[in-house]
Amino acid sequence: MSREPIFTDWTDRHGALWGHQPLRLQHRLHTMPLFSRAALAELIDTYPREQYSLIHMGASGQRRYWREGDIGGLPGEAVIDAIAKGRMWLNLRNVLKVDKRYAEVADAIFAEMAERLPGFSTRHRSAGILISSPSAQVYYHADLPGQHLWQLIGHKRVYIYPNSPPFLTERHLEDIALFEVEVDMPYEPWYDEHAQVLDLAPGQMLSWPLNAPHRVENLDCLNVSMTVSFTNEEIHRLQTVNLANGLLRHRLGLPPRSRAITGPSYWSKAVLQKALRNSRWVRRERGARRRVDFRLDGANPGQIIDAQATA
Ligand SMILES: [Fe+2]
Repeated sequence: MSREPIFTDWTDRHGALWGHQPLRLQHRLHTMPLFSRAALAELIDTYPREQYSLIHMGASGQRRYWREGDIGGLPGEAVIDAIAKGRMWLNLRNVLKVDKRYAEVADAIFAEMAERLPGFSTRHRSAGILISSPSAQVYYHADLPGQHLWQLIGHKRVYIYPNSPPFLTERHLEDIALFEVEVDMPYEPWYDEHAQVLDLAPGQMLSWPLNAPHRVENLDCLNVSMTVSFTNEEIHRLQTVNLANGLLRHRLGLPPRSRAITGPSYWSKAVLQKALRNSRWVRRERGARRRVDFRLDGANPGQIIDAQATA
């Protein structure tokens, strides 16, 4: 490898396991100035409003109480300070599009993966930087694209579950594709007995099998991590099938019978989902699951103000 590797402990064994088993590897992103707290504060300062999500987690022990909010014009360093003292997470979505310096890092990651994994290629890539409060949690969910989680600051514990029933069903995948909401999956505490539990420190990353459900618990410190997502031709076609099957089930009342990604069944679903994916019904169903209702309180780091109270 001509340049300094980003994966610093990769062996052939990792290549054999990649994509089939949860895998924790060492990396060096956390030593790059681009991922320092100062650089991240600068990034927040100019981050476009439509590209970030600020989520408040509710009181400790509460489940499914997410609210989406607004930074409210605070400087980036104050935003990080608010998150360090509160119960929130900030997702700087699409960072590869917003800032090309991060796209160059992703290019280097994927170039290295292509060298290490024979036949590996991507069709679409994206990444988000997640800044989250001490003890914050990301609840049990699954994602449609291929994903890795790169830990940059702080420590977290990640639970990764099998990508098969009862942990993940076809209907879960359809709902995620249709409603673009990943958090409504059923979860039982006993699922944890079937999870791989991996702690992440700065300089470690995780990859897992496609769609494997997971949940994350921050330890008692500010956390910064980068989620890198990708599709290839197969993942892209599976997403098409998930969305089309979701439309068949929810919009047309027809239980889907196939998840084929080739042949007439696949191509008719590709046409169906293209015709309906931006329909008024889909937009309304998605919109009902997402709204902004608080902003950060500049005077009290870690606190939030209800949008209704100030509107
Ligand atoms: Fe996820």
